[in-house]
Amino acid sequence: MGELDKRILWTESLSKFFGGLAAVNSVNIGVREKTITMLIGPNGAGKTTLVNLCTGVLKPDSGKIYFLGKDITGWPSHKIYREGFVRTFQIPSPFLKLTVLENVLAALKNDAENPLKAPFRTMWLKQEEENIERAFKILGKVGLEDAWYYEAFKLGGAQLKMLEVARALATGAKLIALDEPIGGVDPAYAGDILSYVKNIKETWGVTFLLIEHRIDIALPFADYVYVMDRGSVIFEGLPSEVEKNSRVIEVYLG
Ligand SMILES: Nc1ncnc2c1ncn2[C@@H]1O[C@H](COP(=O)(O)OP(=O)(O)OP(=O)(O)O)[C@@H](O)[C@H]1O
Ligand SMILES: [Mg+2]
Repeated sequence: MGELDKRILWTESLSKFFGGLAAVNSVNIGVREKTITMLIGPNGAGKTTLVNLCTGVLKPDSGKIYFLGKDITGWPSHKIYREGFVRTFQIPSPFLKLTVLENVLAALKNDAENPLKAPFRTMWLKQEEENIERAFKILGKVGLEDAWYYEAFKLGGAQLKMLEVARALATGAKLIALDEPIGGVDPAYAGDILSYVKNIKETWGVTFLLIEHRIDIALPFADYVYVMDRGSVIFEGLPSEVEKNSRVIEVYLG
């Protein structure tokens, strides 16, 4: 891990127990800014639990979590979300009857609802216009520009995942956690999803923490990788080193 100040998120000896089971056992991870940091490992390794701890969905039993240099340990998830660390869930959950555009507009952070502005129609209209422009920019980034008028329920699996990413971007997220973004998606489209994510990282400087099972497809898109097994980090390093590591091979093939 590089210079300390470049880390947008890090944990110190983070642990979570379910009964006697250490789902996350004294884990230290660091996510550098403007990277795709990938979390891999077999079923039950503790990946989802770790991300749930970092995003305030679960409370740790011990250890610390820092986001943008702030100790966010024990913060409720809505507060972490407002701080700019957004978690999209495995099951995409947009408003299915709203259009793609409306879904992004609903997630946009703005002060349109500011009661002080409400009486001034021109101000309100200008804000509306800016929001729509911003929403289209975001939709362009996830390949949904031409589908803006579709109701969300008409989208395919890969498009729904990208709508989730679009909504996370709309909130102004600096760090987006994606749990299996290509899970259940046709392999033909899986690379597309990861290409969009990579492009967003490179052009807008958004950081991604990505849990993924299909390392064959996902590894080439990662900047840095953590491998977990039974609650512990067993490897961290560059994607090119992952598949050579004997402990990783043991866990995946043993
Ligand atoms: N709410 C819970 N109550 C009890 N045990 C849990 C709970 N959530 C997770 N576990 C256990 O904690 C361990 C880690 O689970 P977790 O879901 O974090 O793994 P994972 O790496 O995300 O696995 P997968 O790849 O299957 O999604 C597992 O043994 C799981 O059964
Ligand atoms: Mg999981």
